[in-house]
Amino acid sequence: MRDVNCPVETILAQIGESRKYRHIAPQVVVRIAHRAWERTRRDLKATIKETKNALHQVAGAYFRSAPRYEAWQVVAESGQVEAVLPDILATHASVAERDIATLPDFYAQVFAHLDSPRSILDLACGLHPVAFATYAPFAKEITYYAGDIYTDLEAFLNGVFPALDVKGRAFTCDLLGEGFATKIAEEIGEVDVAFLFKILPLLELWEKGASARLLHALPVRQIVITYPTRSLGGNACGMARNYAQHLAEITAETNWRVEALEFPRELCFVVTK
Ligand SMILES: C[S@@+](CC[C@H](N)C(=O)[O-])C[C@H]1O[C@@H](n2cnc3c(N)ncnc32)[C@H](O)[C@@H]1O
Repeated sequence: MRDVNCPVETILAQIGESRKYRHIAPQVVVRIAHRAWERTRRDLKATIKETKNALHQVAGAYFRSAPRYEAWQVVAESGQVEAVLPDILATHASVAERDIATLPDFYAQVFAHLDSPRSILDLACGLHPVAFATYAPFAKEITYYAGDIYTDLEAFLNGVFPALDVKGRAFTCDLLGEGFATKIAEEIGEVDVAFLFKILPLLELWEKGASARLLHALPVRQIVITYPTRSLGGNACGMARNYAQHLAEITAETNWRVEALEFPRELCFVVTK
């Protein structure tokens, strides 16, 4: 139960003054602030600090530098999108830590395990849609939906999709929001495949059991899940083994088919429900 006395408007106004967090969807800020309000025993200053820390941990930490959406957009609209691709792909750590030279092979291997999807839902997408549009085979024949928590990322992706020849659209969402899977089914309709790339550990950190709930609730037949094999700081410390074990526990009681694919920097599973 959320505390009705939590000063949500004040917290949103304060977060809105931060250059790093002002584009994060309000529903995400509110969800995080409510928990911080409880944890800090209703201390407003501490709540704002804890909310910013959490926003950094789940999203802000992945930006290596401030994204230059407006400048990239101008170049893309002039027909030169290739000129800014390296900058775009270097800005978000999650995309940048993939070796670009191996991306075509990564997508080819993943697609070999999919049932010829006509539509894909890329959740917690970051700047991955740009990599996908550039390096995935058949990308242009697929309707592609991409969601993350940033409103400026949504606007940028929707602006750049035509230059990248992407059919589809970006949107703002909260994977931990109330009734997320139902809302997505209503808004997007039927989709063949969902991508959950390097997001489940972040959700699980916030809410134990979140991965299992999401995997069960998503209205798609196939889900491609990846896990990082190193932390943002570069430590491995058994991460791959723990994530593989966790997914095995979630799927043990189901009749889902789970196929593991190995890549040097990312652990990947294709789940068919
Ligand atoms: C580790 S990055 C992964 C990005 C992308 N999937 C990739 O593999 O390149 C995590 C992403 O999840 C997003 N994110 C964090 N919490 C989220 C939530 N509750 N709902 C939707 N997206 C979220 C962040 O903004 C960030 O872009």
